[in-house]
This record gives sequence, structure tokens and C-alpha cells, in this order.
Amino acid sequence: MENIENYKKHVSVLFDECILGILENKDSEKEEWIADLTFGGGGHSLGFCEQNPSIKILALDQDMDAINNGLKIIADKNYQDRIFLHHDNFKNVQQIVEKNYLHLLKPEKQFLGILMDLGVSSHHFDQGERGFSFMNDGDLDMRMNQVDEESISAKDVINTYSEVELADIIYKYGEEGFSRVIARNIVEKRKEAKIQTTKELENIIFHSYPSKLRKGRTHPATRTFQALRLYVNQELEVLEKTLLVAATLLKPKGRLAVISFHSLEDRIVKHEFRRIEKDRPEFKVITKKPIVPKSEEIKRNFRSRSAKLRILERI
Ligand SMILES: C[S@@+](CC[C@H](N)C(=O)[O-])C[C@H]1O[C@@H](n2cnc3c(N)ncnc32)[C@H](O)[C@@H]1O
Repeated sequence: MENIENYKKHVSVLFDECILGILENKDSEKEEWIADLTFGGGGHSLGFCEQNPSIKILALDQDMDAINNGLKIIADKNYQDRIFLHHDNFKNVQQIVEKNYLHLLKPEKQFLGILMDLGVSSHHFDQGERGFSFMNDGDLDMRMNQVDEESISAKDVINTYSEVELADIIYKYGEEGFSRVIARNIVEKRKEAKIQTTKELENIIFHSYPSKLRKGRTHPATRTFQALRLYVNQELEVLEKTLLVAATLLKPKGRLAVISFHSLEDRIVKHEFRRIEKDRPEFKVITKKPIVPKSEEIKRNFRSRSAKLRILERI
């Protein structure tokens, strides 16, 4: 399970925009805290530390590979007294702060900035055995937190849910027009043998598409794999619940920066930020339009092409 030796380099997206967007209101000498709720490969956390020597970071990730790799990076950089890394889901950030950090967050007991760089890291896609990618064969798992005993894998979902439940998940979280036929074919195929791998599932989805649409720009499996990943990790539900919690942990002039990678996520961030701004006059959305990567960044890192950054400030 621990793939730390092979932890694939994740290229941080909208790096300067996040670092500068959050540190803009930083008084250069004073110790300030940032919460990086999605540590991943640690690129953004290191960027904050390198940009300003008086920054300290509370960092979270729900993936054990990211934590083991992160602990190694922190030790290599000698940042043990600057970056404090926890294995947890960001939905628990308030409890983590209350339990471990209130005495450190002096004097306001709040954060100058909070970053949520959503979704999975390159490591997840590149590590075939994690089951996130139909490009690499592997066990159909897709759990970011593999040590959570209550978590359910994509294999469990594919092999035990009813045809209607599968079709609804594929439609709701993947906006897939062929959700019903894909679900029907999954249920037919699993009567012969349990569906175990990403390539088996990819093959079923591929043949569920009409033949003239199989070779389009987007691979037929893209939406179904997205749907399963979002469902297995409850990504949209957790995001929706956490945005207000995170906002309330900000100090005045503190900023919550959220990077999303697809329209379902961005819609939640946009609506939730608007709702917070409307209900609570102490908050203001400072990105009327989302910040998107420049063309040079997209050329350098194709994965960044769909990124959108929105920032909320506590006035
Ligand atoms: C896009 S990567 C972050 C990359 C990071 N900013 C960097 O520069 O390397 C997202 C990370 O967030 C983690 N993650 C996603 N949802 C999470 C959640 N609800 N709680 C904690 N970690 C989460 C994933 O495991 C993954 O490592």
C-alpha cells in the first residue's frame, strides 16, 4: 500500500497565483499560519515556506502515500518546526485545529490563509494499482484513504450496487449520457465473473458507447471513472460541508483559496462562496471570475488546463 519509493512528482497548479494570492496581506516579519488542506506532493506548502520565513503550516492529506512522502520531504528540508502534517480528511479540520493548534495560533487563533487544491494528485493516476486511471491496469480501488476501514472501493460499488444505483451514480457524478447502458452492461458482465480491474471496466464502458463515438477526443471511460472516484471518496459532499468551516477559521484579511478541476466541483465552490458572502457580511469573494492558468502553464503541465481558482476573503 505504501508507494512512497515510487511517489510520482506532482506539478503544483496555479502555483504563483495561490502563493501570492494568499500572502498578499502578509506583514513580512510576523509569524502567520496557513492551512494546506490538500498537501499532496507538498509543492504549495513548500512554496509558502520558501516565499516567507515566518510562515508556519498545518497540512492535511487523507492519503497515506502523500503523508509518508511528505514526512520525508519535510525532514529533507529541515522544516519539522514549520510544516505539521496530519493524516486526515479535511472535513475534520476544525476538530484538528481545536485539539492541537489553538495554543500555537497566536494571538487571533486563526489562519492567514487556507488552500484547498482539490481532487487527486498525479501520483494517484500514475500508480496503476490505486485504480484511478483507465490508462494503467490495476485493482479497481479508487479510495484516497485506503486505511479507512469504513471506506468502500470502486470494486465494491461496481460488483454489488443495483443497475439503477450504478446508472444514477454514473449520471450524477459523471454527467454521462450513456449511464443506463453502461450500468446495464456492467451488471450483465459481472454475472459471468466479478469485475476486478480498471481495464476490465474500461472495456465494458468502451463497448457500451456507439461505435462511431468510441474514438472521440474524450475517452468513453473518462466520465464513468470520474463518477466512481467522486462517489467512492464522497468528494463533492465533503467539499460542500468544509467550505464554510474553513472560512470561519480565517483571521481578518485572511483568504480561502480553492482550486477545482471540473465543473461539478467549481459549481459548488462558486455557489457556496456566493452564499457565504450573502449570509455573512464579513466575507467577500475577491475573484469575480475564477483565475485560470496562463497558456504557458497549460503547455508545461497539461493537467492544469481545467483548473479554476476562486478566493474568498474575510474582511
Ligand atoms: C491536487 S493534490 C494537491 C497537490 C498539492 N497542492 C501540491 O502542490 O503538491 C490533492 C491532494 O489532496 C488530497 N485530498 C483530496 N481530498 C481530500 C480530503 N477530503 N481530505 C484530505 N486530503 C484530501 C489527495 O489525497 C491529494 O493528495
